[in-house]
Amino acid sequence: MRVLTFVTQKGGSGKTTLCVNLAVAAEQAKRRVLVLDMDPQGTAEAWYQDREAERPKLARVDAGELDQALGIARAQSFDLVLIDTPGRDEPSVAAAVRASDFCIVPCRPTPADMKAQPSTVATIRRLQKPMAFVLTQTPPRGFRIKEAQNGLSVLGPVAPVTIVTRSAFQDAQGGGLAIAEFEPEGKGADEIARLWKWTEKKMEKLADEPTQQKNIA
Ligand SMILES: Nc1ncnc2c1ncn2[C@@H]1O[C@H](COP(=O)(O)OP(=O)(O)OP(=O)(O)O)[C@@H](O)[C@H]1O
Ligand SMILES: [Mg+2]
Repeated sequence: MRVLTFVTQKGGSGKTTLCVNLAVAAEQAKRRVLVLDMDPQGTAEAWYQDREAERPKLARVDAGELDQALGIARAQSFDLVLIDTPGRDEPSVAAAVRASDFCIVPCRPTPADMKAQPSTVATIRRLQKPMAFVLTQTPPRGFRIKEAQNGLSVLGPVAPVTIVTRSAFQDAQGGGLAIAEFEPEGKGADEIARLWKWTEKKMEKLADEPTQQKNIA
């Protein structure tokens, strides 16, 4: 079982959006997926409540419940656990990072978002976990993307897939859907599919690597 955590102390950058969309992408790829919502705001849980499909499964947990929840997930043969964390420095953030095999750090291509990343990266580095930034809510093209990739690459690896600002992400979320269910042929669905493939490959590679050679932030 692999554990993938979405983390950044910058609020509103896209943790929950990536978490639920990648959860559905993994489920569509026939993985057994559990989402753990550790954010007291409960945004992922609200999405799940609006959802008709039962899968992926979702549960709310706090920092003290995480180990037990992961034990149950292992016993129930889940392949993948995705953890959505709050956009503030809370004990649940460190607990989630500590439990994870890989961390995704969403970041919008704005100076304010980029300035907020070093503290998140410091937490991940302290806990010696591999991570990658994913640029989110980007314009469809333009210099800002390249500039942000260059700026972030000083702090850590940047995923080769960027997620563009698309109202379909918001409309899907409002209806308890992933973008791949809301607009399967759209560009956003394609971005998420590519990000899921890249993430899964990355986690497979990490599992094969000896600990000291892992791509630590
Ligand atoms: N690619 C996108 N295109 C359009 N809207 C987006 C995109 N990604 C996220 N959003 C919207 O931006 C808002 C914040 O996104 P999200 O809730 O995923 O961020 P978050 O990091 O989980 O926030 P928080 O720190 O509050 O938990 C939401 O309204 C979401 O629908
Ligand atoms: Mg959130």
